[in-house]
Amino acid sequence: MGRFDDYERVALQTPNLVLEPLNPAHADEVFPHLQDAALYTYVPQNPPPDIEHVRARYTRLEHGRSANGRDLWLNWVIKTNAEAAGTVQATVMPDGTALIAYERFAPFAHKGIASEGVAAILAHLKDRLETKVARALVDTRNEPSIRLLERLGFERKRTIKDADNFKGATSDEYEYELRLAP
Ligand SMILES: CC(C)(COP(=O)(O)OP(=O)(O)OC[C@H]1O[C@@H](n2cnc3c(N)ncnc32)[C@H](O)[C@@H]1OP(=O)(O)O)[C@@H](O)C(=O)NCCC(=O)NCCS
Repeated sequence: MGRFDDYERVALQTPNLVLEPLNPAHADEVFPHLQDAALYTYVPQNPPPDIEHVRARYTRLEHGRSANGRDLWLNWVIKTNAEAAGTVQATVMPDGTALIAYERFAPFAHKGIASEGVAAILAHLKDRLETKVARALVDTRNEPSIRLLERLGFERKRTIKDADNFKGATSDEYEYELRLAP
């Protein structure tokens, strides 16, 4: 449990990116990007109503843990050339598994930024928190996200029929998995 109790959120560096631990001050630069409806096509969320909403959410997430205090909620803002380009999230559980999610803002599309950011957090989870298995749930229609996961070596494990119901339709999901350590 030590590695969880002692864990401190840190910035991560890659050749092209800096991943900054999410904090409420990020709301100002991220809010305009979050108005882009394209981010929400395959997820139940909608654009936030105002910047205060984002600031309050980021305040909750800054030091986030699950209600039972065991799971770590880790969030980073992906920066490239000092500009916010997306976010990545990991819910890290003490059993050695983590669930990841990510979004990339429109001006930064198709440059490999999301893949590089997700790869960075996977390496960090493995090294710092001894995560052994990373998982992602993805709408079966979300081809860009499926491409990203498969590029990083994730394997499709199962299909969850009628996993969710939002925006007037039921959605099916794939569960993807990547083993980080034996
Ligand atoms: C899922 C999502 C992050 C993918 O974004 P993306 O821009 O396609 O992903 P990347 O930043 O990794 O870029 C990959 C693309 O850049 C290209 N690319 C260019 N240079 C590259 C490089 N050096 N390395 C990797 N890919 C590179 C790839 O070929 C790929 O293009 P393709 O998808 O047309 O094949 C994005 O669609 C998104 O934010 N969607 C909304 C939120 C969402 O659905 N999140 C996932 C929920 S499960």
